[in-house]
Amino acid sequence: MQKLCRSVWALGQRTARGGNRGIACLAALSETHQILQKTCRDFANAELAPHARRHDREHLYPVEQVRRLGELGLMSVTVQEEYGGTGLDYQAYAIGMEEVARGDAAVSIVMGVNNLYLGAVQQHGTEAQKQQFLVPYTQGQHIAFYALSEPGSGSDASAASTTAKLNAGGVYLLNGTKAWISNSKEASGGIIFATIDKSLKHKGITAFLTEKNVPGLAIAKNENKMGMCASSTCQLTLDDVCVPQSQVLGSPGGGFRIAMESLDCGRIGIAAQSTGIAQAALELALDYAEKRVAFGQRLSRLQMIQQKLADMALRVETARLLTWRAAWLKDNGMSITKEAAMAKLHASETATYCAHQCIQILGGMGYTTDLPAEMYYRNARVTEIYEGTSEIQRIVIANCVLQSISN
Ligand code: CAA
Repeated sequence: MQKLCRSVWALGQRTARGGNRGIACLAALSETHQILQKTCRDFANAELAPHARRHDREHLYPVEQVRRLGELGLMSVTVQEEYGGTGLDYQAYAIGMEEVARGDAAVSIVMGVNNLYLGAVQQHGTEAQKQQFLVPYTQGQHIAFYALSEPGSGSDASAASTTAKLNAGGVYLLNGTKAWISNSKEASGGIIFATIDKSLKHKGITAFLTEKNVPGLAIAKNENKMGMCASSTCQLTLDDVCVPQSQVLGSPGGGFRIAMESLDCGRIGIAAQSTGIAQAALELALDYAEKRVAFGQRLSRLQMIQQKLADMALRVETARLLTWRAAWLKDNGMSITKEAAMAKLHASETATYCAHQCIQILGGMGYTTDLPAEMYYRNARVTEIYEGTSEIQRIVIANCVLQSISN
C-alpha cells in the first residue's frame, strides 16, 4: 500500500476540493473519501491495532507507525503539496484521524498535534518560516509540538506567564514553563506561546516558532499518564531561549488569535479521534455480545444489552456527523468555532460513554488487560480534557449561541 495515497490524493485533488457537497450529503461520502477511509482502515487493522496494546503497556513511542503515517501522507493532510503536504481537505483529515484512532488512539494524537501545528504555520507563516518550520514536518521524519498550556494556565489560555522580552540585538528571550505538551519528547520543534507584556492579557500573547534543540529549552518532566501511554506528554522549561524576531508567527501580540483559530481546527481532529475510539469500543462490544452466552442465549439477544448497543451506535453516528459537518464548514470557508466545539464535546463524551459501556458489556473480561476495552477507557478520558475541556467547549458554544440571538 505504498503511498496511500498518491492515487487517492490525486483523485482528491479533482474531487475533494471541487465537489461542493452539502450537509445533506454527509451520510454519503465522495468516492475519494470512501477510498481514503478504506485505505486508512486497512492500514489501521494491519499496522496499528496489532501493536497498540504492547506500545501502551510498555510506554513505547510508535516509531515505525509514525514513519508509515508520514509515508501515507497522514502527517500533513491539509498542507499544500508544494510544501510536501498531501493537499487534501478537513473532511479527509477527519476520516484519517478517526480510522487511525480506531486502530491506536496514541498514534492518532501524534498525528493530530503535528497537523494542528502545521495548520497554524501554513495559515500564518512567511515563506521563509514555511521552508524552515513547515516543509521538514510534513513527512513524518520530524514531528512538532504545540506549547500553549502552563502549570498555572490550562483552560485560561490568555493567562500564560511565559515571558518573551525583546533584547537590544532584536532577539526575544523566552523564560517560563510549558506543561502537558504532547509530542514534545520526540519533537524536533514547534510553537511556543509566550507573553510580550502580561498586562496586555490576551493581546500580549505571541506565537514563536523554534527548533527544540536550542540552548535553554529542556524537558523537565515526562508525564506518567492514565492513557495514551505510547505518546509523550512533557513539561518544557525555557531559560533564556533565544528566538529571533523572524521566528514570530504572525505578529507580536497576535498569538492568542492564532491559538484560538488553530484550536478550532484541532478540535475537528480530537472529535474524529474520539469517534474512532468510540467506534472501536462499539465493535468490541458487538463482537463480544454475539459470542458470549448467558442465561441460555447470546448476550446480543438480551434487551438490556441491546439498549446499550443501540445507545452506543446512536452516539457514534451523531458524533461522526457533527465532526464531518464541522470539517465540511471549514472546507467551505465558513466559521467553525461553535460547530467544532460541539463536535469535540459530543464526540469526546461519546468516547468515554462507549468505552464505559463496552466494559460493562464485557463484564470481568472488560476489566482485565486481556482485551483492549480498558485501554479504550483510559485513552478516551483525555479527549474530554485536551484541546479544551468539555467545560470550555460548553462555554464556547454558549457564547456563540448567545451572540447569535443578540445579533
Ligand atoms: N477564533 C478567533 N478568535 C477568537 C476565537 C476563535 N475561536 N476565540 C476567541 N477569539 C478572540 C476573540 O474574538 C477576542 O478577540 P479581541 O481581541 O478582538 O477582543 C479574543 O480572542 C479574546 O477572546 P475571549 O475574551 O473569548 O478569550 P478568553 O480569555 O475569555 O478565553 C477561551 C476564551 C475559549 C476560554 C480560551 O481561553 C480557550 O479556548 N481555552 C482553552 C484552551 C485550550 O484549548 N487549550 C488546549 C491546549 S493545546 C492542546 O491541548 C494540544 C494537545 O496537546 C493535544
